[in-house]
Amino acid sequence: MSDGELDTIVEELEPLEPLEEAEEEAPPRAGLLGRAIGLGKDAADERSPTPVALTPFMSSIFPILFVDRQLRIITANPACDNLFLGFPRMARKYFFDIFGKFFQVEDIRTIRETIVGGKNGYSWKGETKIKSHDMATVQTRVYLFPAEVVRDPGEFVVMFDDVTEENRRLLRTVFLSLLEASKLKDNDTGRHIARVNYYSKRLAEELFYSLGSQYPAIDADFIENIGFLASMHDVGKIGTPDDILNKEGPLSDWEWTVMREHTKNGAFILSTYPNPMAKEIALAHHERWDGGGYPFQLEGEMIPLAARIVSIADVYDALRMRRSYKPSLSHEASVSKMMAERGTHFDPFLIEVFHIIADEFDKIYEANRDND
Ligand SMILES: [Fe+2]
Ligand SMILES: [Fe+2]
Repeated sequence: MSDGELDTIVEELEPLEPLEEAEEEAPPRAGLLGRAIGLGKDAADERSPTPVALTPFMSSIFPILFVDRQLRIITANPACDNLFLGFPRMARKYFFDIFGKFFQVEDIRTIRETIVGGKNGYSWKGETKIKSHDMATVQTRVYLFPAEVVRDPGEFVVMFDDVTEENRRLLRTVFLSLLEASKLKDNDTGRHIARVNYYSKRLAEELFYSLGSQYPAIDADFIENIGFLASMHDVGKIGTPDDILNKEGPLSDWEWTVMREHTKNGAFILSTYPNPMAKEIALAHHERWDGGGYPFQLEGEMIPLAARIVSIADVYDALRMRRSYKPSLSHEASVSKMMAERGTHFDPFLIEVFHIIADEFDKIYEANRDND
């Protein structure tokens, strides 16, 4: 939703008072909950919040926010603080000033009608995705209901049921089955696949923490996603004929043409994955910075960032691995071989970052060795 749309909706949320005025004037009308946390006159006088009445909510494992009738946040329970770590302080802000951009216009209207007009017994439920630059997307069901069962409730509970993990597991299970199927054909080991995930995630983290301003596309979601999707880079080999995949000795030109198709096949297979990174990695992990790669001879930054990262991870691991047709290369020899391809095969900036943290690649390899 655009900021303009959001402003319009928020303006409609009468009767909202300007925040400053509201703070200077009498505290918001406080019912049981408000009084308990010190917003009511009595409690304010005593200056000793008595959260006892909130205990059942405050200690809930579900993240919970309490809002007043104007959708101004009264407080959050520890689970909620934990979920939205890194978000601005919420107390006394309007709910939609913080969360408005994560809701559909229609939902905001309905929530308003629920609270002001008592629609559906002052209760609402829906879903949303919440994220910030430092926080991976949280998919959550949202429940809003009165804090007290009274005729005209003054405070409401907003409960977030985090279903991110549940949804992620469901989605990934399908794609992991595909990966398992492709591993039956390919002679790459499961350990190779896991290591490529680890290296890629580590490289992305380094870019995020050390060079974040130069890589605005890298956020918590990017790191989380590449740490899973890097393993899918060769999933398209499921469509490559066995005699080409397992051929000992050099491939003919025609066989190479067929072999290269695994990038496009992978992109096709992964096109149903909700994040385009999956497709980008499968399609472009054999592209080269100088335009000499395949399948489309993309050059430089035309190659998606995730694919440039996975390319470094995949090649490093391929060099370290012992195969039937080649011995394992030492860490030092692998690094110097790769550094010699700075700006030809590899992104010259990314390969420097790889160089800085190369020891960690070695540790990942050693900690996840194949049983050979
Ligand atoms: Fe590949
Ligand atoms: Fe690979």
